[in-house]
Amino acid sequence: MSIDEIADTLGTVDILMEAKEESNDCVKPFDLEGVRADFPILSTEVNGQPLVYLDNAATGQKPRAVIDAERRYYEEDNANIHRGVHTLSQRATEAYEKARGVAARFLGLESDRQIVFVRGATEGVNLVAQSFLRPRIKAGDKILLTTMEHHANIVPWQLLRDEVGLELVVCPLNARGEVELATWQRLLEEHRPAMATMVHASNSLGTINPAAEMIAAARALGIPTLLDAAQSSPHFRVEVPALDPDFLVLSAHKLFGPTGVGLLYGKPERLEEMKPYQGGGDMIDIVSFEKTTFKAPPERFEAGTPNIAGVITFAEALKYLMAMDRVGAEKHETALRLRTEAGLREIAGLRIVGEAANKVAVVSFLMKTAHSHDIGTFLDQEGIAIRTGHHCCMPLMQSLGIPGTARASFAFYNTEDEVDRLIAGVAKIERFFS
Ligand code: ALA
Repeated sequence: MSIDEIADTLGTVDILMEAKEESNDCVKPFDLEGVRADFPILSTEVNGQPLVYLDNAATGQKPRAVIDAERRYYEEDNANIHRGVHTLSQRATEAYEKARGVAARFLGLESDRQIVFVRGATEGVNLVAQSFLRPRIKAGDKILLTTMEHHANIVPWQLLRDEVGLELVVCPLNARGEVELATWQRLLEEHRPAMATMVHASNSLGTINPAAEMIAAARALGIPTLLDAAQSSPHFRVEVPALDPDFLVLSAHKLFGPTGVGLLYGKPERLEEMKPYQGGGDMIDIVSFEKTTFKAPPERFEAGTPNIAGVITFAEALKYLMAMDRVGAEKHETALRLRTEAGLREIAGLRIVGEAANKVAVVSFLMKTAHSHDIGTFLDQEGIAIRTGHHCCMPLMQSLGIPGTARASFAFYNTEDEVDRLIAGVAKIERFFS
């Protein structure tokens, strides 16, 4: 069904068509200086030095379009959605629903009915665990996941383990920090899990998993899948039709949008079978003390007043990315990563953690001479922001036999000069501590 047919069916022609037009904005060639100028924070100083922001896997910085959209929304349109006949409420509702269309286009989808707005990737996984998997499983049923999962894609399943008896089967990594497809396939066949889930790109190692193949292997055995795209979507285009998971989650704040909002994509038949996750206003059809009936997805899963400003500004971030030459941006990020890895490898006693052949621009490392926390603190004095520690991946760190790493994570707006400042800073640490 084309977007035009879907828009007709849903009676939301204007909203979907506008979203379509806006997301089809001409894609400009990647322009580093131009994008840097869009992010006000990048021209600030920290500790008397020009900021070098290399903690993008923790959260991305926000372009002026996102910052302005939030101010504009509160100054001009603020009202509750789906509830008012007055003009402001209708304007807010339209902007909120238009954001759903933008998110659908971002993921290469034709229907916005498969987009549920949530608080972030974490809430998306919890929603699937409680509303999709829980009613389907009994004690002893299994879920397959990988060693490199973020806590957000481990703990929700452990809650089901403790409540229902779900067993977690963990696919190990090879020495480079990659999932081997043969191992994944073997575990699927051996355990026949009730569900399989995987991170698309590791926030700690940078590894890009062969998600399409992993998902296809599960699908061939009739096993539903959930893809955590929180760390891949900021680095390259993530298209649902090409990957074909049953569910996908991501977070707005890693995509240069606001914190506290994200989305869950679900196949229509999967969302349709799911019971509400939370009860409250906006997700109901008719309420009486005897009985309540619920709306169809996605509204069924959006109880209460949502993060309206967050959703609207999330759409601004997605439009910003869709108007960018993302292949050009990805090439730029890859060049930054390779420059970083080459420069760091020159430093005595430094080891890169995560040597996958296919990586996003994330470089984790350890030094013989300095603890990761000392590296982070020292670099901060130089105006360089990195993350240190376990990166919400304690089981991965345990499997590697390390407490954590120092991690530089890049975005398209980082520069070669910033890479060189990082390398110079780390070299200084090596001299200082040895
Ligand atoms: N998951 C985020 C990170 O990798 C917070 O830093």
